[in-house]
Amino acid sequence: MSRYDFQIPLTFKHRIVFTRDVFGAGLQDLAEVFADAAGEKRGLILIEDAVVQAWPRLESCARVGMSSIGFEIAGLAVLPGGERVKADDALVREVWRLIDAAHLDRHSYVVAIGGGAFLDAAGFAAATAHRGMRLVRVPTTTLAQCDSGVGVKCAINGFGKKNWIGSFAVPFAVVNDFAFLQSLDPITRRAGLIEAVKVALVKDREFFEWIEARIAGLAALEEPLLEACVERSAMLHARHIAEGGDAFESGSSRPLDFGHWAAHKLESMTGGELSHAPAVAIGLALDVLYSVEVGLASPVLAERVLQSISGLGLQTYHPALDWRDEHGYRVVLGGLEEFREHLGGRLTVLMLKDIGRGEDIYELDIETLDRCIGRLGVGAMKV
Ligand SMILES: NC(=O)c1ccc[n+]([C@@H]2O[C@H](COP(=O)([O-])OP(=O)(O)OC[C@H]3O[C@@H](n4cnc5c(N)ncnc54)[C@H](O)[C@@H]3O)[C@@H](O)[C@H]2O)c1
Ligand SMILES: [Zn+2]
Repeated sequence: MSRYDFQIPLTFKHRIVFTRDVFGAGLQDLAEVFADAAGEKRGLILIEDAVVQAWPRLESCARVGMSSIGFEIAGLAVLPGGERVKADDALVREVWRLIDAAHLDRHSYVVAIGGGAFLDAAGFAAATAHRGMRLVRVPTTTLAQCDSGVGVKCAINGFGKKNWIGSFAVPFAVVNDFAFLQSLDPITRRAGLIEAVKVALVKDREFFEWIEARIAGLAALEEPLLEACVERSAMLHARHIAEGGDAFESGSSRPLDFGHWAAHKLESMTGGELSHAPAVAIGLALDVLYSVEVGLASPVLAERVLQSISGLGLQTYHPALDWRDEHGYRVVLGGLEEFREHLGGRLTVLMLKDIGRGEDIYELDIETLDRCIGRLGVGAMKV
């Protein structure tokens, strides 16, 4: 035989910008995003309908703003968003259709403005049209600015499982415009900070203590605090992706998915009644209690984490945790195998040793999980 093993080294620039009022006062920042872009700037602008409802002038501002920086708008569409657009491929197909109808090519841009779910679906369409176009993400929720918008993944749900159909694709740029957060209802605006709590817990003790000390101000949505929290969270996520050595997750360890095995399962079990942020709150609480139960972390740590979660107005229990199938098996535990199958390889779940310090474990004990869920249930009853 003849055998040739080639190495294909690749580097990507992952550009993340924080600004305010990007199509108005922040226009200069937008211009800089594209300043060193090669070739003509041409493409589609896609905006989630809920964002247009909240910002009725957004369409015209986006048109004027993008044109003024020399971007040729080949089309602008207002499209549905929210988790339901990840349930099937309707939005993905519509974006493909728009890309084709506008005769865009691989050097063209898709500028997507919306929440995490919208960006996931529109981003997947952009990542797969012509095998990948240039995507500019403009996340409009706290959660998407804290986490998903600055990541390098995009996905829709499939076979009743979260993010089953998706791709890794580094966006051309991410533009976090803090002004968009003002139109979120306070509960959603606050809840997205759970991803900041998560990344602080696994990466940055000082940041967790910063959040802890300011939890009342964050819960009151004091803007300077909220924005500082979002920015630091986004930077921790991005730094892990860029510098953690496994941007496309070919290994089994995924610290940024702390608490997510249960969260993703709860989202799909409840048909989206529990959305991502509240589901992550429960998933974090469960894995923190488990970390204590197996002797990795101290009970004080769990207390502090539970306090922070409730400080953000989030619950640590949902009845779905106790749903059982016809064989008496706790349905949420199916999330472990789904998590493993999604990551590939051996089951690897990060638990906490201390704040800012995790440890991978490779199996979870069902009875211990039962006990932890029992404790979360008791806590819920007290509330
Ligand atoms: N790709 C990744 O790496 C990654 C990482 C974490 C989470 N996610 C995904 O992100 C999704 C959750 O994102 P999310 O929390 O942004 O939820 P979301 O996209 O469902 O948005 C929440 C709600 O806010 C509305 N909305 C969005 N922006 C608004 C604005 N500025 N004003 C008023 N309303 C607005 C939406 O229509 C929706 O009803 C989940 O599907 C999750 O799986 C992806
Ligand atoms: Zn998440």
